[in-house]
Amino acid sequence: MEKVTTSAQPAPENTRIGELWDVLPEESSVTDDGVLAIGGVPITELAAQYGTPLHVFDETGLRRQIRRFIDGLAERWPNSEVLFASKSLPIVGMYRVAAEEGLSVDIAGGGELQLALAAGVDPAKLHFHGNAKSDAELELALTAGIGAIIVDNEDELDRLERLLTRPQALLLRVIPGVDAETHASQATGGDRSKFGLPMDQALRAIERMRAHPLMEFEGVHLHIGSQILNTRQFAEAVAKISTAGDFATYDVGGGLGVKYTYDEQAPEVGEYLDAIVAAAREHLPEGARLLIEPGRSIVARAGVTVYDVLSVKHTGDTFVAVNGGMADTLDVALTDQRFEAVLANRVTEPWTETVQLVGRQCESGDLLIDGAEMPAARVGDLVVMATTGAYSYTLSNNYNGALRPAIVFVKDGESRLVARRETYEDLLRLHEPAIG
Ligand SMILES: Cc1ncc(COP(=O)(O)O)c(C=O)c1O
Repeated sequence: MEKVTTSAQPAPENTRIGELWDVLPEESSVTDDGVLAIGGVPITELAAQYGTPLHVFDETGLRRQIRRFIDGLAERWPNSEVLFASKSLPIVGMYRVAAEEGLSVDIAGGGELQLALAAGVDPAKLHFHGNAKSDAELELALTAGIGAIIVDNEDELDRLERLLTRPQALLLRVIPGVDAETHASQATGGDRSKFGLPMDQALRAIERMRAHPLMEFEGVHLHIGSQILNTRQFAEAVAKISTAGDFATYDVGGGLGVKYTYDEQAPEVGEYLDAIVAAAREHLPEGARLLIEPGRSIVARAGVTVYDVLSVKHTGDTFVAVNGGMADTLDVALTDQRFEAVLANRVTEPWTETVQLVGRQCESGDLLIDGAEMPAARVGDLVVMATTGAYSYTLSNNYNGALRPAIVFVKDGESRLVARRETYEDLLRLHEPAIG
């Protein structure tokens, strides 16, 4: 098995295979009979063994990407830490990989805390975010011995004043006033953001923390948004946060964008780190601790979603309908995210059609890809949607009674189940009070 296109081997005609490799997981290949394989396992085998819809993650590529962040930042700014923004893939199997590779972890709620603890993540490596933390969640975090809490507002300080019984490291989220060039719902650093405090109010909150005997104020945090492709915006955010004052720690958030489509260009991890560290050298105190929180850029490319084709209909448009949709890939409807797909069991056949790849949920907005190129699809074919590793499982839901897909990790020709498929029994369990 190998990639069907390298400079030595031209792409089969009428396919886009040459461009596929940059949106599919790093460890992707095609078998001699034209089947896409991830991590050395043909998609046809994975579909037969685990069923579809199925999330498949290339564990080798995932771990490699994590190392790019950790090693890349450590080389450029030794007093640093990379936090995995776990909202991008909040599954026990991923928390474990993150911990094994030496990432710290950003959690944003009691549920993510439970998943991280279940994976065996050292609580001291957890950073607790969120603009509306409850007493119960803060108590859980404090009892677990969490590393740091990123305080969002003064009401949270009131809660902490009541709840703290021993010293606790705290950061404060500030609004940097940077309007990220991304979808509006993914921009979080503009002046009207619901996250954090503007600079003047931040200074008051910092004084409060400094005056409290159990609050160990360490520094400031910001996060300007997600799927950001212009690295200058990260540098701008670093410059802005430096105006809050001199502190021991600066957490400059996540947000690096990834390449989703054939035409899109995304910065390499190294370019992103260069931009942040250059700004840190210019604006932050020498020797300060520098934290970053990538999520999407760690997991997006490593993951794909496998679907079965259930229907092919020609009604003016050609509709290829699969056994999933906005219940497992909400990003299209939520943020207009554009994806690419491939007919995984017939990759090398000529891609002669441009189709509407649609899901099965009851909305016209449940359009997975507007204009997907592929061979003429047939019922029973397998569609792989690329670059679905980030925020897909996170945003999955039970629309139309859909069941959450299973998740497998593949590596060196082996697969392992890390989350089982939801069942009708799971679905009914919540409704026991009304049944019978
Ligand atoms: C506080 C915080 N940090 C990090 C992230 C991760 O962002 P991304 O997945 O775009 O890297 C998010 C996501 O929105 C966030 O809210």
